[in-house]
Amino acid sequence: MFGLLFAAVAGFALSVYFVVLPVFNHFLDPKGLRKYPSFATFAGFSDLPYCWLSARGFRSRDLCELHKEEPILRIGPNALSFGSTAAIKDIYGHTTKCIKDKNYEILSGSHTHLIDAIDKQDHSRKRKLMSAAFAIKNLERWEFKVADVTKRLLAVLDEKCTSPMLSSSKSPEFADLTVDFNQIINLWTIEAINSIALSSKLGLIEQGTDEVTAERIDGTVYRARYRQSQNQTSRAQAAFVWAYDHYEWLAWLSKFLPYWRRVWKEAKPWNDVIYHQAMERLRKYQNGNQLDDFFSCLMTGKSGSPNNLEWGEIVSEISIIINAGADTTAIALSNIIELLIRHPKHLQRLRAEIDETLEVEEAVAPYDSVKDLPFLRACIDEGLRLNPPTSAGLPRRTPPEGAHILGEWIPGGTSVSMTIYSAHQDPIIFPNPEEFQPQRWLGSENRKRMEPYYIPFSTGARGCIGRNISYLEQIVVVASLVHRYDFALPSPSWRLQRHEAFNILVGELPMKIWRREQRSEA
Ligand code: HEM
Repeated sequence: MFGLLFAAVAGFALSVYFVVLPVFNHFLDPKGLRKYPSFATFAGFSDLPYCWLSARGFRSRDLCELHKEEPILRIGPNALSFGSTAAIKDIYGHTTKCIKDKNYEILSGSHTHLIDAIDKQDHSRKRKLMSAAFAIKNLERWEFKVADVTKRLLAVLDEKCTSPMLSSSKSPEFADLTVDFNQIINLWTIEAINSIALSSKLGLIEQGTDEVTAERIDGTVYRARYRQSQNQTSRAQAAFVWAYDHYEWLAWLSKFLPYWRRVWKEAKPWNDVIYHQAMERLRKYQNGNQLDDFFSCLMTGKSGSPNNLEWGEIVSEISIIINAGADTTAIALSNIIELLIRHPKHLQRLRAEIDETLEVEEAVAPYDSVKDLPFLRACIDEGLRLNPPTSAGLPRRTPPEGAHILGEWIPGGTSVSMTIYSAHQDPIIFPNPEEFQPQRWLGSENRKRMEPYYIPFSTGARGCIGRNISYLEQIVVVASLVHRYDFALPSPSWRLQRHEAFNILVGELPMKIWRREQRSEA
């Protein structure tokens, strides 16, 4: 009897909370958002339709399609998505009054890091501290780290080389698809960023798997999967975080479903993977090892005086560098290599440019020799435009007094965003936006015209601090690979699988690879 009464009261309370109140609020419409069309029937009542869209795996592309009809869409009771490049400056530009939205706070740990710090002062303190480490002169000083890891990559790829393809019109034999490029390039970016940030070498490229040691706060260690736990963390959080007020219990509830239970389980080691990397570096520091990396820049300021950060903040900053600094660049590299294979004329032109610069037997491209090659940079930028690794809208919150966005007055405390994907698909700025056309980036006038709307690294005060590292890595590795090898995809109809979590995660990229006969080609 008591149980029945309890169930009835709980049922009533839940239906008031989840149905009556949202419907009431929707019609009361205190912010006047009802005038904007909803992307899905119930998006004005609940954030769940957006969670569903997100879990389906390509929300940025889906929204871009919908924005072809509507410049402003309601994607949640308190959230608007903008589909016009004119909104970029209002939401993300240097003068915007919008701040990062609650999703960053919800996923934040005990200490904020550079990406999830919302408070402007906290962020600018951190940014100042980190910008010394990210300054271009430091990066070029660390080029040898990228070169070392690239040398290791080439050694492994040399082993996987097969005999040259005689005809480019045929598909390779299945047995010749010896490389999963996406896997190996992810291992490469993990090694590169761990070397730059923490002077560590994990041996993953040689091992061919992402298995590493993870460490709990109590010091116990176990084996875990680096990439898998990172990707699954992102997959799970990116599905549920948009329902800000309900994230915790939605995440809890999702674990009753076998698919999500597995995703959360595989995600679990991620914090321990990072913690072990941080602890290993701390132990070296305590043993007096003088190493040149991000960690040393976090410990000591430019003048040589200690920064005196709490250990929790150091771990947090390390986590964001090795998190944001690996998969984004790996995704970009998988995309660009796939695009080049699919566009042999562009590949040929790029190769001619690189061959003119590098000696035939030069293996790792020296950054200084290739950094200004115009077609190489054009290919990389066009890859990032067409398939931005971070494609989705990055939510910002309007200031309490409200803000003008796209000529509309948006009330205070509203979540606003514009997908990077939509910006890059604007046909006025980027004619034939769905085509891979690196030549659009040649010529400084063209570049100047497109750059304000080219935002793979976002823009403004919260734009990517790691873009110079990423360019350095991409330039060195693309030049080295294109110079040394030729590649083939499984077949012309074969397609790369993509799933959008926070970034666009890329599936397997099987390919045949062989050494080029440069002299005979020339
Ligand atoms: C192709 C590669 C990359 C892409 C596409 C990319 C993209 C982005 C984007 C879109 C943001 C804005 C995030 C937001 O507003 O929530 C961002 C911020 C950030 N990125 Fe990157 N990133 C890349 C590489 C890197 C690398 C290599 C590092 C580190 C070594 C890095 C570290 C960061 C950090 C720390 C921030 C936060 C900056 C701030 O708020 O002040 N990223 N990145």
